[in-house]
Amino acid sequence: MSLAEDLLELAVATAREAGRMLVDKRPAGGPDVVQTKSSPTDVVTQMDRSAEALIIERIREERPGDGFLGEEGGTQAGGSGVRWVIDPIDGTVNYLYDLPDWAVSIAAEVDGAAVAGAVEMPRRGETYTAARGGGALLHAAPGTRELRVNSHVPLAEALVATGFGYAAGRRARQAQVLTGVLPGVRDIRRGGSCCVDLCSLAAGRLDAYFERGVQAWDTAAGALIVQEAGGRVEGLLGAPAGPDLTIAAGPGTFEALHDLLAQLDPLRD
Ligand code: IPD
Ligand code: CA
Ligand code: CA
Ligand code: CA
Repeated sequence: MSLAEDLLELAVATAREAGRMLVDKRPAGGPDVVQTKSSPTDVVTQMDRSAEALIIERIREERPGDGFLGEEGGTQAGGSGVRWVIDPIDGTVNYLYDLPDWAVSIAAEVDGAAVAGAVEMPRRGETYTAARGGGALLHAAPGTRELRVNSHVPLAEALVATGFGYAAGRRARQAQVLTGVLPGVRDIRRGGSCCVDLCSLAAGRLDAYFERGVQAWDTAAGALIVQEAGGRVEGLLGAPAGPDLTIAAGPGTFEALHDLLAQLDPLRD
């Protein structure tokens, strides 16, 4: 097995274990909010923290020299050249409200580049995986299938997902950008989990995605899955995807959405 395949196997097993724990241990009345971050909408529950701790502990048992970047603070340097980028619950607000679209996202980077990614969606019964150069797969009943993005969908016929970063002061501007996009596309979805959006795009259930304010832990696994399914994941005007702006779509559709967003000047706050 290649290193990427080894890392993927560990990512999948760990994401599945964390996903099961999050379903089995979710308190009947919903988890407690233990912290708010950038704004009152930016919540953390005790389950986000315990899932991240479980993931880091499991990976450390197998690979003690690796580094970590975790959304809930589990960030540590390592000496092996491998770093794990972890979002223990992507879609915490959905998890809090018991909406099904949330996921455990785990990616492995080698020398700074993502080589393996697993996104586990326990309430959908779906696991999405990709290893660099090996394509993207959806594992779900009745079997495993290879993923391919939709390409060359005219923007007017494109189903476009987005999200609204929680940082206070940004949301009014995000709403303005949205009013510029909405008349030019088939429709908009705000699903509440960046990595679920990216995996849905890889599976052809969406045609495009864009968001301002997403972080490496939101996108690391999902972006690799989109790329391995034939899609593009980039920022504005040739910049890499990142917190400024992340745009993802199949070829043909990507360019049209990119150009519309460039006109709308989304980086102006
Ligand atoms: C959030 C989700 C959401 C996106 C936010 C993210 P979290 O992640 O991905 O869809 O719009 O920008 O912060 O906090 O639920 O892990
Ligand atoms: Ca969060
Ligand atoms: Ca997230
Ligand atoms: Ca999270």
